[in-house]
Amino acid sequence: MNTVTRRGLLVGIGAAGGAGAMYAAMGALGLAPDEQEKAFTPPSPSDFTLRGRASAKVVIIGAGVAGLTAAYELGKAGYDCTLLEARGQAGGRNLTLRGGDRVTETSGPAQDVRFGEGVYFNAGPGRIAPWMVTMDYCRELGIPIEAFINNNANAFVHTNGRTVRAKAARADMYGYIAELLAKATNVGQLNRKLTKDDKERLLEFLRRFGDLGPAYDYNGSARRGFVKYPATQNGIQLDPPGSLHQVLAAATGRAITNDFGYEQATPMFQPVGGMDAIVKALTAAVGPERIRTGVQVTAITTREKDVQVTWNGGALTADYCLATLPPHILAKMTHNLGADVTAALKRPVPVAAGKIGLEYGRRWWEIDDRIYGGITETDLDITHIWYPSHGYHSPRGLVVGYYTSDEQAELYGALTPEDRRRRAITQGKKIHGEKYRAELLSDVSVAWERQPHIQGGWARWPAFDSSFTLLQRPSGRVYFAGDWLTHLIAWQAGAMESARNAVTQLHQRVLQSP
Ligand code: ALA
Repeated sequence: MNTVTRRGLLVGIGAAGGAGAMYAAMGALGLAPDEQEKAFTPPSPSDFTLRGRASAKVVIIGAGVAGLTAAYELGKAGYDCTLLEARGQAGGRNLTLRGGDRVTETSGPAQDVRFGEGVYFNAGPGRIAPWMVTMDYCRELGIPIEAFINNNANAFVHTNGRTVRAKAARADMYGYIAELLAKATNVGQLNRKLTKDDKERLLEFLRRFGDLGPAYDYNGSARRGFVKYPATQNGIQLDPPGSLHQVLAAATGRAITNDFGYEQATPMFQPVGGMDAIVKALTAAVGPERIRTGVQVTAITTREKDVQVTWNGGALTADYCLATLPPHILAKMTHNLGADVTAALKRPVPVAAGKIGLEYGRRWWEIDDRIYGGITETDLDITHIWYPSHGYHSPRGLVVGYYTSDEQAELYGALTPEDRRRRAITQGKKIHGEKYRAELLSDVSVAWERQPHIQGGWARWPAFDSSFTLLQRPSGRVYFAGDWLTHLIAWQAGAMESARNAVTQLHQRVLQSP
């Protein structure tokens, strides 16, 4: 763009075509914010008056985030929704535990949650990226949110038996990488690839990236932190970094890149007071009387003019059904949707995932370790330790002592709650010392693969193939929804996007039906 500056062009388009035209042009220039793939228009009562149609009766199986979102959106246009939930409460994996709650698993002893006043544990989802539709629902439903600290330079990295601050691990890796690249700039293939100007610019960047000395050497950096920080006296820096060989051998790579992906990039957010604020607000908006808990559906029968849903002791007939259960549970249900639907439902594989909440009577991570929120990354089987991004300086607090998936989750899930705690404490003590055991007040752990009617942390498709697309469409009068039907698996945003997709299709059909 030579004759017109990009900004000048945009201002011109904005004046002539309004904000919509300007956004479209920004998108073409790669400047628009991350957008949802299609704009969602909620069903509205006026859609019916305009077309002389009436809303329909919809039975929704599962009152997790997908089911609640669908009921909320359909409810805007007056659809008569009933949610059937097998568990004792709505929310599904959006589960926040507080004192007085009880956790029951498919085997093993039940756990009574003994947390003190104000302490909570998000046992399922715990963070929201700002571009996700979850944020739109928080805004629309008036749910206050606060920052979730996903990356804390002052948290630790524990790899190969050593604990260092994240800022030191990062400074050393970035420093040595910058030094290596700076030295390679004038050599071989790089030398041929780069112009003189390229090299100057690259070196200028590398000096900043790695905090390099005048000869492009990395000799440590104040970025690593201090033993005594600078105040009236100059600070005392940490010991110099290890050699390049030692830094590479520490294998901090995964730990220091956790938030590089777009899903985990800072800042992230959480509802104030617990993730289940989303469940509570959706439930209130839908109408709690529409949610029937403790109803385990056993069969779905789609018919020419309606659909019937059956459970032990009851049945319900509706115009349409929306099934939002995990696919591996739906696959076992009796239905007349055909063998290809059953086969497709069997494709996604449930993945184990688990977390333990450790309650302490003193926020030692803030007082002793100066860690305010964020995550310590480890190569231990606990994987991470999360520190709370709320309640700073209050008397008590809760640390997530492990958050695991796959084999590591299976390992913890197979233990009794007591043994999970013992193992998590043994690992965490390697980082935080004896106080990690001695000051523990109470704990509770959740193994999602052992949660009744859920039986998995999330699902993984071997490939997003024709089974995936088949289930994104209705089968007879039955629609499907859930995070597992999106590319946002293991995010509430996936459940919400999928619910919107099903709602849009269902509403179009109702408007067009004779
Ligand atoms: N969405 C899940 C997380 O952020 C996987 O940990």
